[in-house]
Amino acid sequence: MSGKLIDGRALAQKKQAELADKVVQFKSEHGFVPGLVVILVGDDPASQVYVRNKERAALAAGFRSETLRLSDATSEEELLELIAKYNQDPAYHGILVQLPLPHHINDKRVILAIDPHKDVDGFHPMNTGHLWSGRPLMVPCTPAGIMEMLREYEVDLEGKTAVIVGRSNIVGKPMAQLLLGKNATVTLTHSRTRHLAAVCKQADILIVAIGQGHFVTKDFVKEGAVVIDVGMNRDDDGKLIGDVKFDEVVELASLITPVPGGVGPMTITMLLEQTYQAALRSVTL
Ligand code: GUN
Repeated sequence: MSGKLIDGRALAQKKQAELADKVVQFKSEHGFVPGLVVILVGDDPASQVYVRNKERAALAAGFRSETLRLSDATSEEELLELIAKYNQDPAYHGILVQLPLPHHINDKRVILAIDPHKDVDGFHPMNTGHLWSGRPLMVPCTPAGIMEMLREYEVDLEGKTAVIVGRSNIVGKPMAQLLLGKNATVTLTHSRTRHLAAVCKQADILIVAIGQGHFVTKDFVKEGAVVIDVGMNRDDDGKLIGDVKFDEVVELASLITPVPGGVGPMTITMLLEQTYQAALRSVTL
């Protein structure tokens, strides 16, 4: 069974160690290290965990890392002023505002305020535009991490049928564009798709980001398919589970990501990679 597993944790460790070496080299050439600021507003428990993991990984790879934990009472104006300050600060090459934001803050305005060159999440419409015109620059980190996993495990995408379940701006839509860029034939499905299981069963590569625990059963999966599970859900006992019913789908898949230890660690790796790339561009442009 282990031969089928895509080990996102091991791959992330390897990539982050390589990145740490590149940061040492960068510092010797340029006299500073890439900098990342992560801004969290409010006390959403899941966001607190994500932000702590990002901070740890950035420090371990030798980055300058700042994490701002702001109270729920922070106004939109205050947040926008802070972003304007980091846009101007040459010590920071990446700015990430953790989502979701409290309801009184308009997340679209916040994303628009981030300098697109520092938008390491790839959420700014300018970066979305680059991606959809086939010239990706800053790309949302989860789909970027999935592409890296597929590359590392030598999954052939050329002309293959890829089905994505879930059409979010963070995962589904950018994922479709990245797979299209590698000449896969892409179907982007969602909760209203008719005959969803039958559509998924056509997939050579099935990417599931629907946000419902154990949604995809063996009835959705073709023998030999590559299955990527983006889900992070809690079951009734509080255990972390994916969107895919792993125990039965693993019997059919040729490769499959576990939850936890699959997609999650690669998301953070790509955040660091894009911050490093932004720092490189800051000295070469
Ligand atoms: N919340 C959940 N996923 C993400 C992400 O990739 N980036 C940000 N900024 N917030 C998130």
